[in-house]
Amino acid sequence: MEQAYHIPVLLKEVIEALSVQPDGIYVDCTFGGGGHSKAILEKLSAKGKLVAFDQDEEARKNLPPDERVIFIPHNFRHLQRFLRLHNLAAVDGILADLGVSSHQFDEASRGFSTRFNAELDMRMDLRQDKTAHDVLSGYSEQQLHKLFEQYGEVTNAKTLARTIVQLRSVTLLKTIDGFKNALRGIVKGNPNKYFAQVFQALRIEVNDELGALKEMLQQVPPLLRPGGRVAIITFHSLEDRLVKNFFRQGSFEETEQNPFIMTENANELKPITKKPIVPTEKEMKENPRSRSAKLRVAEKLMMV
Ligand SMILES: C[S@@+](CC[C@H](N)C(=O)[O-])C[C@H]1O[C@@H](n2cnc3c(N)ncnc32)[C@H](O)[C@@H]1O
Repeated sequence: MEQAYHIPVLLKEVIEALSVQPDGIYVDCTFGGGGHSKAILEKLSAKGKLVAFDQDEEARKNLPPDERVIFIPHNFRHLQRFLRLHNLAAVDGILADLGVSSHQFDEASRGFSTRFNAELDMRMDLRQDKTAHDVLSGYSEQQLHKLFEQYGEVTNAKTLARTIVQLRSVTLLKTIDGFKNALRGIVKGNPNKYFAQVFQALRIEVNDELGALKEMLQQVPPLLRPGGRVAIITFHSLEDRLVKNFFRQGSFEETEQNPFIMTENANELKPITKKPIVPTEKEMKENPRSRSAKLRVAEKLMMV
């Protein structure tokens, strides 16, 4: 049996949250297997439109034969630029379901998974130069330490960074098996969990996932029509914090609210979800990859 490209996470919740207007224009920033996109299309009339981004050309094969769909095989950090190119100044809803698809993860040659041996690649966009091998061979010890600590929450990030720098003077660190074997001596705790954290950190760095998310979020308020909704599904606490802060205050840093000082609220978004929406027990059981998903939704204010 052929494996599903990707099972959409929080599907019902996303579609409800977007409150799809039949004649509206919607953007799916992360088309992947098209699960969310297809559900949006079902809600749209013949006049509606769906703009689907995916920086991985492979996602194109999942496009439905549907004239209402415009596919943009680029990074969603260029959201506004590509919408303008298609003469779209404002849209009714924007969705992003971050991270990699199951297909990318399960495709050994892409190098995302610790389960297979392949080159240390991890690029979502194969037109990009930088691979995981480049990060491992070119980054300074401090840079490696920081990324393993922050993106992977690897307990011995400092030792790991030092070991990589020592190893690379004698070996190439080109393949997954070579990399894992070379690190056997410093693995802390369960090796599967340890390598999953190390790989997650490398993937986030290779694809500049936090940088792309920030750039995309900043383009959301000017692109949304008043009353339009934005829905973001994250899988990492750093991503969730960026989305939470941006929806609440229009910036990424956590700021103390002083109730005695009236500040001008320049934020054009109003969060709809105080707490993130998470998958039900049933969904987590049926689709374990949904486990760490968090959905946050915001609405563009009618008047600012
Ligand atoms: C979790 S999957 C999305 C799955 C999709 N919602 C579905 O129902 O099948 C994420 C997809 O977004 C793409 N992606 C991730 N970051 C991206 C970015 N910055 N720009 C464009 N596409 C991105 C990945 O290539 C992947 O195909």
